[in-house]
Amino acid sequence: MKVLVATEKPFSKIAVDQIREIVEKGGHTLALLEKYTDVAQFYEAVANADALIVRSDKVTREVIAAAKNLKIVVRAGAGFDNLDLAACTERGIVAMNTPGQNSNAVAELAIGMMIYISRNCFTPGTGSELKGKTLGIQAYGNVGRLVAEHAKSFGMKIMAFDPFVPAEKIQAEGVEVAATLEELYEKSNFVSLHIPATEQTKGSINYNLLSRMPKGGCLVNTARKEVINEAELVKVLEEREDLKYVTDIAASNQAELNEKFGKRVFATPKKMGAETAEANVNAGVAAANQICDYFATGNTRFQLNK
Ligand code: 3PG
Repeated sequence: MKVLVATEKPFSKIAVDQIREIVEKGGHTLALLEKYTDVAQFYEAVANADALIVRSDKVTREVIAAAKNLKIVVRAGAGFDNLDLAACTERGIVAMNTPGQNSNAVAELAIGMMIYISRNCFTPGTGSELKGKTLGIQAYGNVGRLVAEHAKSFGMKIMAFDPFVPAEKIQAEGVEVAATLEELYEKSNFVSLHIPATEQTKGSINYNLLSRMPKGGCLVNTARKEVINEAELVKVLEEREDLKYVTDIAASNQAELNEKFGKRVFATPKKMGAETAEANVNAGVAAANQICDYFATGNTRFQLNK
């Protein structure tokens, strides 16, 4: 079988080498399409692929249509909002992700961004410490849990809100559970987002929530830009000169945010939460193993479109 790795933002070399080793050991061949600049290159490369590994690359209905032999696509990462699951299902293509594999890298970046913004974006001036502050974790999944764990060692108080995780499970980890999302925002000096981008969450981080944050509050977004109501973010930052926003996924209106709010906002130049050699290896190797396993035994453990 031919396994294509199509990554606009490539894996590290060490990850690609390990993916190749696994794929070849499984009796398959590896093709690489990295840093492509036009989606036409993706259509061409995927045309004769039996399996596909991507990162945030958009696997659209058009990509699926071009992929005549495709049997399985694996998103090497957690969020799968870039996969057209309906199009995969219609063609009988198995779609998977690799949950948890890059979580630590994202969690460490969330902490790093909190420190960066608390220290005036590393420019002269008096900053503040994380110790003693309350961190609100919105969604207590793989990344949220790790952010909580790391933040505890900074002496932060941790609260979480996640309607899908039993409160007792969260409390057992020394984390307070907010009764409502509103309460989480009201009590947290920092809120760190770990929700996926879905029809329910898109645009859900809005004026109503953000305006509840205590003085000096900061929203940390290592999730997806789509979950933010960007117009309402501007409104609240205009009204509340104490609030801050740091993100790993530049807003659609990032230039406006930078111009209007200066050092109160920060966006990484390119999404880098999962940009560590470790995360690349973990997610890439998991994707390659899942593909080989699927071809060898039919294992569909991480299938998203069952
Ligand atoms: C994920 O959903 O796993 C992260 O957002 C990482 O995305 P990336 O592979 O584009 O870095």
